[in-house]
Amino acid sequence: MNEHEKYFLSPARQLTDAEKELVWKKPLSHKVSEAEQRISEEVCRNWNRGEMKIATILLEGDAGSGKTQLAKALSANFGLPYTKVTCFADMDKSDIIGAILPVISSERLERMEPADRNALKALYESDRFHSATEILMDVMGITQETASIKMKQLLKLAVENTGSDAIEYRFYPSEIVRAYQKGYLLEIQEPNVIRDAAVLMALNSALEPDGSINLPTEMVRRHPDFIAVITTNRSYAGSRPLNEALRDRVQHAEKMDLPTKDIMIERAMSKTGYRDEKVLDVLADIIIVLDKTTRANAIKGVAGMRSYFYWTDAIASGASAKGSLYHKVIYKITTDSEEINLLEEALKNDGLLASLEEVLKDVKKNEIVTMQSKSEHGER
Ligand SMILES: Nc1ncnc2c1ncn2[C@@H]1O[C@H](COP(=O)(O)OP(=O)(O)O)[C@@H](O)[C@H]1O
Ligand SMILES: [Mg+2]
Repeated sequence: MNEHEKYFLSPARQLTDAEKELVWKKPLSHKVSEAEQRISEEVCRNWNRGEMKIATILLEGDAGSGKTQLAKALSANFGLPYTKVTCFADMDKSDIIGAILPVISSERLERMEPADRNALKALYESDRFHSATEILMDVMGITQETASIKMKQLLKLAVENTGSDAIEYRFYPSEIVRAYQKGYLLEIQEPNVIRDAAVLMALNSALEPDGSINLPTEMVRRHPDFIAVITTNRSYAGSRPLNEALRDRVQHAEKMDLPTKDIMIERAMSKTGYRDEKVLDVLADIIIVLDKTTRANAIKGVAGMRSYFYWTDAIASGASAKGSLYHKVIYKITTDSEEINLLEEALKNDGLLASLEEVLKDVKKNEIVTMQSKSEHGER
């Protein structure tokens, strides 16, 4: 057995080529976290223990803490295809289950707007491997949410255009049903935003351990390899918390915070290629203080890993550290003057802006020295 197959859940399982493509391949920049190790071991340990099997996992915490990448890493570790669904407020039942589309005649199809015609054709001609939203995202270059709205428009249009023809209907399963039936690892992003209680219930019952889903055309059974990873930002005052029933389904949960400073630096290095540890260290300290300050003062925005990466990248390409602090970090948290004052105070009290100027002065000096020595050697 190869080391990377250590956690394969169904080693004997044969994936199709298209499915193999969906199994995440870890990039070189990927660093294995404690959470990744813990979940992989737990799931493996319990995989053949009947009711103790762990197949619904919750990753809850800070934006940018690595929830999505962890879900993908689990796909790689378990050897399961990775798919995802991004939830949105107005999701309805067809987004959970799928939609029935009438197949309209080619004469009627020819009389439609080109965009609609092409979209419908793509759906009719699809290989049934991809879900309807995926097909639309692909042919129209749109997001999952827009594709879901588009699908509803097309459905209406197709129904209006059936006329009195004898009609064939085709069922297009959702991404959720596809993962459920074929045994994929499905990341369910932000299900807390869903407004309709009936939709939440449908999602909840799709996560039942030994369940089945009743489709208009057939009943599909849950594939034994189906794993759902719910990823969600921690709720703050004013946001909708994760539905209790869904929470209750979960068999393993991880609290995902801003990583430790060492890991922040390591990830920023591998992502941006910037190597100055002294600078990276101060930038990380600043992000950490801002993160604490936003929480302590109930400021809604986040200072997280993404800001850290973009800020580092800006500095690496020569931007002023102070100026880019505002554009890459602070204004992303808030543009409210009082809140900005609080953040600035916190940085001043910790002496961090001064340390930043110090380390950057050193960097400048070093650069000048290298440039001089290069020019002395006739380089440019
Ligand atoms: N284990 C890891 N190793 C290296 N980089 C990581 C790791 N986890 C996350 N990252 C990087 O951090 C950023 C945010 O991660 P992401 O998974 O999108 O966060 P979230 O889903 O929690 O918002 C991404 O650019 C990602 O590549
Ligand atoms: Mg994410």
